[in-house]
Amino acid sequence: MSDHILQFKNISKRFGSQTVLDEVSLSVGTGEIFSLLGPSGCGKTTLLRICGGFDYPDAGRVILDGKDITELPPNKREIRTVFQNYALFPHMTVWDNVAFGLKIAGVDKHTMMREVGKYIEMVQLSGHEGKKPGQLSGGQRQRVAIARALVNKPKILLLDEPLAALDLKLRQRMLIELDTIHDEVGITFLFVTHDQQEAMSISDHIAVMHNGNVEQIGTPVELYEAPKNSFIAAFIGDTNFFDGLVEQEDGDYCTLMIKDFPALSVYNDKKLRRGDKVNLSIRPEKFMISATKPEITDAHTNLLQGKVEEVIYLGAHTRYWVRVQDWRISVVKQHFSYALDERKICWGDEVWLKFEGDNAYMLERYTEEDENLLALPDV
Ligand SMILES: Nc1ncnc2c1ncn2[C@@H]1O[C@H](COP(=O)(O)OP(=O)(O)OP(=O)(O)O)[C@@H](O)[C@H]1O
Ligand SMILES: [Mg+2]
Repeated sequence: MSDHILQFKNISKRFGSQTVLDEVSLSVGTGEIFSLLGPSGCGKTTLLRICGGFDYPDAGRVILDGKDITELPPNKREIRTVFQNYALFPHMTVWDNVAFGLKIAGVDKHTMMREVGKYIEMVQLSGHEGKKPGQLSGGQRQRVAIARALVNKPKILLLDEPLAALDLKLRQRMLIELDTIHDEVGITFLFVTHDQQEAMSISDHIAVMHNGNVEQIGTPVELYEAPKNSFIAAFIGDTNFFDGLVEQEDGDYCTLMIKDFPALSVYNDKKLRRGDKVNLSIRPEKFMISATKPEITDAHTNLLQGKVEEVIYLGAHTRYWVRVQDWRISVVKQHFSYALDERKICWGDEVWLKFEGDNAYMLERYTEEDENLLALPDV
């Protein structure tokens, strides 16, 4: 068995004059949950349909377990799909819906009874076998669709926004159930979603797509902590962006000039040079907010001074909007403890924002639009 069960190689697809997929290449590891994540219209469903054989690419190859399946019809691929609308047979019972694929495959009755029973139990629908889809809740219908897709033991299960029709609480529960089912069956899942939290919580790897291109592939942690560009940083979680200019290199770090800020020391993983323009991303939770000036002992710890413009209490954490000259900075403070007599930071307070140079991330500029940067001072 190869490490990569599925590979897309330079897949391109046009509809009329629109390029929907532009030389997309990615590899899905055997047994993992791999997500395609991106805004509406970026080409996720098109790529999934090409994988399932419901659409053909204009160029490029699809390789399943080392075999080129680009030209094969859907029923000749060892792939099953759970569509967003579940596409169950409305006139058939739960049992018959799940059994359908095995009947077509001509499986003997004994095996069919055992396998259908096993998957119905796995998706927790025992007792509902005789119901028709119209008599089930949204979450139950979704589980029938999953059982029906799994019963043929495909090499890959494709799931196109399988939770989109469910309300938030049910979505969260189904996500955990999907993860459990994945652990039980050990089949590779290719999961499509436009919801970054959904993708983050379930995936081993995520490919972030935008306008028919793959922008970055990584683990959830890599995408969050080391986004490649400002599109990824903004799409995955919240962040603050600052335009700046590298003033000087300093070993693994560099000194960065940002309008209205003191000189900052920031980790320079991209080996940027004096004069390079950067887009600095600092996540809200990376700031430490305090009403008194903190002591700084490390050369790569940075300090900003500002004024609180907004306080939003959210139970587990509080979000502050802090004004530093022209910048409005989003800061999140977790409530490790929340003693009622503790001095709270309030609207209008002067505060200090501390952050470590390792926790700020310099990004490739995604667009050219903002060239309005600092002039480099003479040194
Ligand atoms: N059969 C088709 N004919 C013409 N255009 C199409 C066809 N299918 C998809 N498109 C276009 O291709 C683009 C990508 O569509 P796709 O369904 O792959 O997006 P998506 O990422 O799945 O979006 P969503 O999150 O909304 O489901 C869209 O602009 C869509 O209008
Ligand atoms: Mg879609």
